[in-house]
This record gives sequence, structure tokens and C-alpha cells, in this order.
Amino acid sequence: MAIIAPSILSADFTKLGKELKDIDDAGAKWVHIDVMDGQFVPNISYGPIIVEACSRATDLLLDVHLMIERPDQMIPAFAKAGADLICVHAEACTHLHRTVQLIKQSKNDKKNPIKAGVALNPGTPLSAIEWVLDSLDFVLIMSVNPGFGGQSFIPSTLEKIRTLDQMIKERNSRAIIQVDGGVAPDTIFDVAKVGTESFVAGSAIFNTPDYTATIQGMLEKINQ
Ligand code: DX5
Ligand code: ZN
Repeated sequence: MAIIAPSILSADFTKLGKELKDIDDAGAKWVHIDVMDGQFVPNISYGPIIVEACSRATDLLLDVHLMIERPDQMIPAFAKAGADLICVHAEACTHLHRTVQLIKQSKNDKKNPIKAGVALNPGTPLSAIEWVLDSLDFVLIMSVNPGFGGQSFIPSTLEKIRTLDQMIKERNSRAIIQVDGGVAPDTIFDVAKVGTESFVAGSAIFNTPDYTATIQGMLEKINQ
């Protein structure tokens, strides 16, 4: 079953609670929270305080995408803030296996275990996750260079997703594939076709007037 994960990077922060309610009513399953530190990516967004606010405002699963250096130092704070899923970048982790174990051993504020993901930038090969794949709940394939919403989908990502899907099947991994960046009504069918289950979309949802029409339209395209 396809999971739509709207990225609040493109939401209106003057009314975050209402934005969360509206995407929930529209059929979203996760809310994607992009954390940027101005080091790993050339932009700064928000940290555990916003995750904690989302946790109080919605029952949607909180999908925290850490675009930060040294994520180990911050994982406990995001767990305490209520993260349900935490994704780190392979490029930011010297000891990726250790970091993945740290996420998996963490419990959030509701005492639920946290699901672990690893993200790969467009230029990073799939081999970066090969030896942690068995431990992962999801792999995030970046289809833009991270840092900003509203960028165009990089077409070569489709081949990468297809290859990852084969790799997951060959290894009997239970990891699902998440894709992030430039996912919109005109790209989502192709992204779904190659094995994606979780679709992050920021501007394609929040820049439209009717989130229900947008998300339901995306789900229809996925199921075509
Ligand atoms: C990019 C972020 C994305 C971003 C996607 O660095 O990781 O989650 O919000 O934005 P859109 O959907 O507008 O490409
Ligand atoms: Zn993201």
C-alpha cells in the first residue's frame, strides 16, 4: 500500500497544526520532517522542537529525515521528541552500522521502537547501504540534491530505484523504498513503477489549494 509522506518544508508554518490536520484528512500516512544543519546541506531548517510540536498536533507517523553531520549526537533528542522513523545520510556517517543500530535501539516518547532508514544522495552508489540493508526498515533514494524543496526530479534516479528493488529482493530484506525530491503528479507514476512504496512530496502538495485532490490524484496515478 502506497505511503504518501508530505514534506512540511513547503508547509505554511504560521498554521502548522492546521496543515498537519489537512494532510491527514487528505490521505497522507506519514509526515516527512526535513532537518537541515547548514553543514551537511547548504540550508538550515528546524530541529527537535518542531518534531515535538508535530507529535502533539497529529497522529500521523513522524518521518524524520536528518540532513545533518554527526547524527548520532542528535538521535536521542529526536527520539524523545517523538520521531517514529529516523533516516540518516550514508554520506554523513563514518560508522553507519553503529548509527543504524543506535536508531533501532531507541524508543520514542510513546515507547515505540523507531524505524531506521538510510538516505543516499543522487551521486552516492547503492553499495553504500549493502552491508546494513539487513537492518533497515527503509532506504531513502534522493531524487534531487538535498537542501531545498521545489527542485526537479533527476531522471537517472529511476534506474537506481529499480536496481535497489532487485537488491532488496535478492537479499530478502524487508526494507521499503522511499523516494524524495521532485515527486509530483507528472513523475509519481514512473517512480511507483520501479518499486517505490513511500513517496515524499513537499511543493507538489503544499503549493496546491486542495490537498485531498492532490494526494488522491497521486494515489490514483500510483495505482494505474
Ligand atoms: C530536500 C528534502 C525534501 C524536500 C522535497 O532536501 O529532503 O524532502 O522537502 O521537496 P519537493 O517535494 O518540493 O521536491
Ligand atoms: Zn526529505
